[in-house]
Amino acid sequence: MVDRRSLLAGSLASLTLAVRTPAQVLPPPGYGAPLGTSPFPPEVFRERRRRVMAELKTGVAVVYGANEVQTDAAVAPPFQQNGDFAWLTGVVDEPGAILVLAPEERDYQEYLLLPSRNPEAERWGQERLPLGAELERRTGFRRVYRTANLGGLVASLAERRKELRFLGPIVPPTAPVPPALDLYQKVAARIPGVAIRDDSGLMARLRFVKEPRELELMRKAIDATRRGHLAAMRQVRPGWTEAQLRDLVEAEFRAGGGAGLAYESIVGSGRNAASLHYISVTGPIRAGDLVLIDAAASVGGYACDVTRTFPATGRFTPEQRALHDLVLQAQEAAAAKLKAGVYYEDLSEAAKDVFRRAGRIDDFVHGLGHPVGLDVHDPGDFAKPLPANCVVTIEPGLYVQSQNYGIRIEDDYLVTPTGCERMSTGIPRSAAEIEAFMAQGRT
Ligand code: GLY
Ligand code: MN
Ligand code: MN
Repeated sequence: MVDRRSLLAGSLASLTLAVRTPAQVLPPPGYGAPLGTSPFPPEVFRERRRRVMAELKTGVAVVYGANEVQTDAAVAPPFQQNGDFAWLTGVVDEPGAILVLAPEERDYQEYLLLPSRNPEAERWGQERLPLGAELERRTGFRRVYRTANLGGLVASLAERRKELRFLGPIVPPTAPVPPALDLYQKVAARIPGVAIRDDSGLMARLRFVKEPRELELMRKAIDATRRGHLAAMRQVRPGWTEAQLRDLVEAEFRAGGGAGLAYESIVGSGRNAASLHYISVTGPIRAGDLVLIDAAASVGGYACDVTRTFPATGRFTPEQRALHDLVLQAQEAAAAKLKAGVYYEDLSEAAKDVFRRAGRIDDFVHGLGHPVGLDVHDPGDFAKPLPANCVVTIEPGLYVQSQNYGIRIEDDYLVTPTGCERMSTGIPRSAAEIEAFMAQGRT
């Protein structure tokens, strides 16, 4: 049986130790991780956590941030925070961080736990902040501890509250057990009467509906993305390589204000475009090819997701034009159904009906679309009617490797109470628009 007093006393003693570390030299403003919260000020994230805690009402919830990718490479890939953690904290430059929410307290207690400092690692990677007021100011948390305190903290909170609330992710049995669930199982095995409750849908429900400030960043990402797609259509010539075109698109994203890529760019010409996630981008662009570009910029961590398919020469053959028209018709049939309260499945059926009627349903081999936001495949629940202010893609396509083509048209739509707004405007979409645009400046 667990000795309650020692469990509590132990955890509190270690917390006290953690906060009583002797004063350390602070890096000057603008240096040292975490630099602050991103892309919004700390109050925005505090308010989101309050919303989560108001929904949970009871118990304790632990959310793990992403860890650094372990690699032998001389320079590790850039750290990518996980979406739920980024949405809840805005702390995107501290690998291994953990959030603990205790909603029962009068003021909704919340704790940010960060790994201990490691001066040797910091010489190679990034300088980090010591515990103290500056760290609390930058993150907006009143309680910032070290991750070594996690077990004791969660045990002492769970002991009183008796409920561990699992916010996800749900993973298949072949994947490792998510760390929060692993921790909960260990805590429940040691404290009698502690239950694990499934709240894995909550984050998806909250993140699905976009705040105006999120939409503003997505619109900026689309502005940068538009610039890349327009440059590609304007400048591409048969004889270019896919890599050359990708480099142009990505340079234009940056010149247009893009901070990063929303995902690895797909630039496939001819047969390569029939491979859905073709990211090797090593082929030539030949006259007669259709070129598929599925590429987008991100701004403030927010993604968009845009695909266009156009002829390398600027002119569709009649067969290519008919296929492109069919894909566009499928997209428009789906978009015509889109408004708050409908099921995404009904959009999908509308698009599929277009392909079925044309006898091409077997060449449409993927889902019609997905939510988009902080993650390019953002969380959201397509099993329920769509809420107002969610953003979804509609991206029908036809892919026939033996005939050397893949055609996809993908746009991002903001769902409104009465319909939808296509956010990714200003990039030629129909065959006529594409030909007219590509004809400018060509002889
Ligand atoms: N760019 C990935 C997708 O369209 O889902
Ligand atoms: Mn997509
Ligand atoms: Mn895409």
